[in-house]
Amino acid sequence: MIDPAELVDAAMGRVNMNVYTDNDIFHLEMRRIFYRTWIYVGHESEIACAGDYLTTYIGQVPVIVSRDEDGGINVLINRCAHRGTTVCQRDRGTANFFKCEYHGWVYNNKGALTGVSLAKGYGEGELGDAQRIGLQAVAAVGSYQGLIFASLNPEAGSLEDFLGNTKPYLDDWAAQTPDGRIRVESAAFQHTFPANWKLQAENNTEGYHPDFLHQAAVRVQIHNSRRARAARGETTEKPVRRQRIAAMDSRGYDLGGGHNLVETPQVAMLAKKRFPAEFLDELAQTYGPDRVEALLGPPWRMTIFPNLAIAGSNIRVIQPLAPDETYVRQSFIDLPSAPESVRTHRREQEQGFYGPAGYGGPDDIEMFTRMQEGFRTAQAASLDPWLLFTRQATSEEVLDNGVRVADSTSEITQRAVYRGWAEYMGQEA
Ligand code: FES
Ligand SMILES: [Fe+2]
Repeated sequence: MIDPAELVDAAMGRVNMNVYTDNDIFHLEMRRIFYRTWIYVGHESEIACAGDYLTTYIGQVPVIVSRDEDGGINVLINRCAHRGTTVCQRDRGTANFFKCEYHGWVYNNKGALTGVSLAKGYGEGELGDAQRIGLQAVAAVGSYQGLIFASLNPEAGSLEDFLGNTKPYLDDWAAQTPDGRIRVESAAFQHTFPANWKLQAENNTEGYHPDFLHQAAVRVQIHNSRRARAARGETTEKPVRRQRIAAMDSRGYDLGGGHNLVETPQVAMLAKKRFPAEFLDELAQTYGPDRVEALLGPPWRMTIFPNLAIAGSNIRVIQPLAPDETYVRQSFIDLPSAPESVRTHRREQEQGFYGPAGYGGPDDIEMFTRMQEGFRTAQAASLDPWLLFTRQATSEEVLDNGVRVADSTSEITQRAVYRGWAEYMGQEA
C-alpha cells in the first residue's frame, strides 16, 4: 500500500499521479475523507415539502434525504435492514414511505420500520431489537444557508467549524435576492466521466486554463457583446476587446480544509454589460445597487472540499465511483423572485456554458479524460510520476485569518485541494 504522505510533497507544489489511479488510495479516501467529514447532500429547496426526498451518496454509501411530516430533514442510509437492498432508486420524488421490493418491508420517511411481510413467521427475538431496526440514520445532519450536509462520523465536529472561511461567501450567496429565495433545480444535468473525482474538484476554481481551453466561450462572448451593442443601437466600428482572465485583477484563495475560491469581479462586470443600462438602473433601484452583480451571478466560484462545487448559476455534486470514474449531479440555481429577464439570462448562461452541448463544461470534461489517460503512465516505474502545481507557489500571501491568497492563475486553489487532501489522508480514521 502506498503511503499517502509520499504522494504530495512537503512544499505542496508537486502531486504524484498515483493519487488519481491507485485503488487502495481511492478506498482510503472513502474512509479518511468521505466517511470522516461533512459531505454535501442537497439543498433544502430540493425537498421543500413534507414527503419530498432525493437520493444521493456519501462516498460510496447510498443515502435518502427526506423531509418528514414535522418539517425535519432526515438523511437515511438507503439500505434495507433485512438483507441490504436499496429501498429507493429514484433521484427524487414525494412519498411518505419506502418499500423494499425484495420481500416487501416498509419504512416511513424518518426511517422507522412500519411493516414486515408475513410478520407472524418471525419467532420471538428473530427480528432483533424492534426499536433499532429500520433505515439507519447518518451520525450528523446540518444545514447552512439552505445547504444540507451530513456525516457518517459521530466525531466530525460542528458543521460551522467544517465550513470555516467559506461562511461569509455562503452568507452573500444566500442573499442574492432581497427575499433570499433560492431554488435549486435538482440534477438538471447528470453525467459520468472516465476520470478521477479530484480533477473536477480542482478544476472548478482554476483560473489558469480558461483563456486557453475555453476559446469557444470567448468567441461566443465577443459575438454576444456585438449583438448587445447592436441591440442598444450603437453603430460604433470599435472592435470588441477580448478580455483575458490572466490580465484581470482576479484572486484565488485557499480557505483552509481543502476549501477554495476564485474571485473574478471583472467577469461579473462584463456579464452586466450585456444588459441595457436602463434595465440595470431599474434593478439597482428595486434591489439596491450592491445587489445587481449578485443577481447576475456572484463574482466568485467556490469548491467546498471534498464534493461540492458552486458556480454562478449551478451547484455540482461530485461523486467518486472508482479511481477513474466520477458521477456529477449538476443543478441549476434559480432565483424565483428575480426579474424574469435575469432568470432567463442565468438559465441561458448555464445551458450555454455547462450544458451537454455547452461551450465550456464539456471542454473541461474532455481534459479530465485526457489527463486520466496520461496518468496510466504511473504504472511504468521508469517514468516520472510527479505533476506540477508549483505556479507562483512562492507568491502566496497569508492573511490574518490564515487564508492564503495569490493571483487567480497561480494554482493556489489547486494547492488548496491537496493541502486539505494531505491533512485528511495523513490521519488515521
Ligand atoms: S431485503 Fe428488503 S425486505 Fe428483504
Ligand atoms: Fe473550465
